[in-house]
Amino acid sequence: MPTVIEPRDPRTQAQGVEQGYAQTARRWPAQPLLRRPPTLSELTGPLEVAKRVKLLGGDIAGHGERQAIGQLMHLRLRIVDEDGAPVPGAVVEIWHCNAAGKYIHPNDTNDAPPDPNFYGAARVVAGDGGLVELRTIKPGAYPVRDGTSWWRPPHIHFSVWGRVWLSRLVTQMFFPGEPLNASDVILNAIRDPAARSRCIATLLPTTQGPANALVFDYQIVVRGRKASASMP
Ligand SMILES: [Fe+2]
Repeated sequence: MPTVIEPRDPRTQAQGVEQGYAQTARRWPAQPLLRRPPTLSELTGPLEVAKRVKLLGGDIAGHGERQAIGQLMHLRLRIVDEDGAPVPGAVVEIWHCNAAGKYIHPNDTNDAPPDPNFYGAARVVAGDGGLVELRTIKPGAYPVRDGTSWWRPPHIHFSVWGRVWLSRLVTQMFFPGEPLNASDVILNAIRDPAARSRCIATLLPTTQGPANALVFDYQIVVRGRKASASMP
């Protein structure tokens, strides 16, 4: 008996062309989608994504004396399915800008300085409890260079692969208490307030975890009605 997965509620998703965010016109289809049942080959492979990609460690805050500049943070990420059950073995790609708001990417024209000790990307496999741990620095905010004057709040990008290549969620995590969250076009493209708040990490008490880092908890739901918002 195939699993019946409740479809996503569009109000919980940041899908569609969003006014004020010019790039969405290039990222979303101009025509309505046609539903086409996946074929057996798409549902069954290629398997073992983790063995087909190069894994990059879960510590991107620098090494030894070569520390990235910024607020050290520890992210405890859990990958779960629609029932809250962990998804061990999911391949999780993580990327974010440095503490000054600069990505290592030729298309990033932000004036902020690069950080030679910060690469800004990891690719890891979720453990038994669906848990991914990342040691990094808190990303900065950055201006969006599309002719307007809006800024992205600090955020972290994720791509999560399931059992097969087609099973992939690209999403973003936000930080609690950031003033720019209220005006972020991408976060606010999610109409449902509960779904929006699910995109914001939880800061744990500073008495927990490593003394030299802030610890954030976050959960990504890969499918179903409470699936994390798709934010490419
Ligand atoms: Fe970004």
